[in-house]
Amino acid sequence: KIIVLDFGSQYNQLITRRIREFGIYSELLSHKLTAAEIKAMAPKGIIFSGGPNSVYDKDAFRVDPEIFNLGIPVLGICYGMQLMADILPGGDVEPANNREYGRADIQVTDPTAVLFKDLPTDQYVWMSHGDLVTKVPDGFKQTATSKNCPIAAMADDKRKFYGLQFHTEVQNTEYGNDILRHFAFDVCGAKANWSMNDFIDLQIQKIREQVGDRKVLLGLSGGVDSSVVGVLLHKAIGTQLTSIFVDHGLLRKGEADQVMASLEGKFGLNIIKVDAQKRFLDKLTGVSDPEKKRKIIGNEFIQVFNDEAIKLKGIDFLAQGTLYTDVIESGTDTAQTIKSHHNVGGLPKDMHFQLIEPLRTLFKDEARDLGEKLGMPEELVWRQPFPGPGLGIRVIGAITEDKLNIVRDSDFILRDEIQKAGMMRDIWQYFTVLPGIRSVGVMGDGRTYDYTVGIRAVNSIDGMTADFARIPWDILQKISVRIVNEVDHVNRVVYDITSKPPATIEWE
Ligand code: XMP
Repeated sequence: KIIVLDFGSQYNQLITRRIREFGIYSELLSHKLTAAEIKAMAPKGIIFSGGPNSVYDKDAFRVDPEIFNLGIPVLGICYGMQLMADILPGGDVEPANNREYGRADIQVTDPTAVLFKDLPTDQYVWMSHGDLVTKVPDGFKQTATSKNCPIAAMADDKRKFYGLQFHTEVQNTEYGNDILRHFAFDVCGAKANWSMNDFIDLQIQKIREQVGDRKVLLGLSGGVDSSVVGVLLHKAIGTQLTSIFVDHGLLRKGEADQVMASLEGKFGLNIIKVDAQKRFLDKLTGVSDPEKKRKIIGNEFIQVFNDEAIKLKGIDFLAQGTLYTDVIESGTDTAQTIKSHHNVGGLPKDMHFQLIEPLRTLFKDEARDLGEKLGMPEELVWRQPFPGPGLGIRVIGAITEDKLNIVRDSDFILRDEIQKAGMMRDIWQYFTVLPGIRSVGVMGDGRTYDYTVGIRAVNSIDGMTADFARIPWDILQKISVRIVNEVDHVNRVVYDITSKPPATIEWE
C-alpha cells in the first residue's frame, strides 16, 4: 500500500482515490504518525499531501523527520514539497512574490525525470500556493519549472524523494494521473493487486479482532451506507450484531418491507424494527415550519433509538456507516472512542460505546461496489440519497397522513417508471413533492379541485450543487398520466426545472 499523510489540503482524499484506482490500496493518515508507526505498516511509498499552512506558521503541521530515514520513497505535493525542503538540509522555502492559484504552464527541465517519463515537456498543471521552494535540499535537482515558480518539481533519485509544487490529483493537471502512476509503480514498485474483495477480507478480520466475543449495535436507516455496514458486520460477527430500524412513517412506499425482506430475510440480520409512525405523526401535527419539522423528526428519532438501545444489555460497540467524505474535518486525527451522545446525539451519558466504522475509508461509489461484492441487491445498493427527515420535508407545510400518502404513491410511480426506463443510475435523485396548492381540473364530465404534484429530478456529484435532470418527455408523460390516474386527489403534475443554486434539491 501507499499511505498519504494528511496536511489538510481539500484535495487530500483525491490522492488516495487516484491511487486506489490504480489497484493499489491507499489510506489517508494523520501527519502525526511517527516513523516507527509508519515502518510497522511497511508501505511501499509515502505521499505528503498539500495543506493550507505555511511551513513558517507557528502551528504549522510538521512530520517526524525520521520518516526520511526509513528507506521508503516520499512524494511531497505542494505543502508536502515545501515541508521536505524545510526539513531536509540545504533546502529553502520563501513566500512567493506572486501567489499562484489556478492553471499554470510548466516545462520539464530534466528529460530523465522519472515522474515525467514519456510525457511532453510543456504541460499545464493546477497550482495553489503562497510559498515556494527557492533552493532544493542537498542531493536534489530541479526537474520542472514555471514562470512564477522556478522549482516546480524536484527529485532525488538516489533516496527516492520527490517534490511537486502543483497538485497532481486534480483533473486540471493535464498529466497528473501519469505522474502519480510513475511514482506509485516506477518509483515505489507497487503492484496493482488491490481489489474490493481484499478490502472485505481485511475488514472482516479487523472487525473480528476488535469485537472479540462482544456485542455491536447498528442503527439501520435503510440507506446504502448503513445497509452495507450491516451486511459486512453480519458476515464478520453474525449474531453478535443487533440492528435497530426505526420506521418513522416517513419512508418511501415499500421501503421498510424491502429493507426487512432483504437484510433480515435474505441476509439473516437480527433487526429490531420499531414501528413509530404514530409517535412521529403526533409530534408533527400542525407543524408547518420546515426547520421545526426537521428538529422534531431528528429529536424523535434519537428518542426512539435510545428507548430501544437501553433495553439491550451488554452492548460495547456502535457501528456507523460513516463514509470517507464524512471524515473531512481533521478526520485522520479523530479519536476512536467517543461518548455516545456526541454521536447518535442523545444516548444516555453513562452508555459509552466504541465506534466501528468500516466504511470510513471508502467513497460512496466504493461503498456501493462493496455492497455489490457482498451480494446485496441492486435496489438496495443503488438506492438514491434520501434525507433523514424523509417524506416529512416533501409534504410542504403541515403533514397529514393523506398528504403523505399522495407523496408516497406518486413517488412510487415515478420510481417505477424510471426503473422501467432503465434510468435508475442516470439520475442522482428523483422524487415527488406535494406543494399543497390545489387547482381546477376536469375529469370525465366533472370539474375537479385537487392537488398538484411536483416532480423533482436532479443530477449532482455531492448534493452541493445540482442541475435538473432531463427526463425524456415521453417518460414524463407516462409518469404524469399514471400519477393523475392512480393517485387520488391529484389532477395536475408539474416538473421542477430549477437548478441548485438558486433552488435547493428538496423543496423544504
Ligand atoms: P438540499 O435540499 O439542501 O439537499 O439541496 C441536498 C441533499 O441533502 C439531502 N437533504 C437532507 N439529508 N437531512 C438529511 O439527512 C436533511 O434534513 C436533509 N435535507 C436535505 C437532500 O435529499 C439532498 O440529497
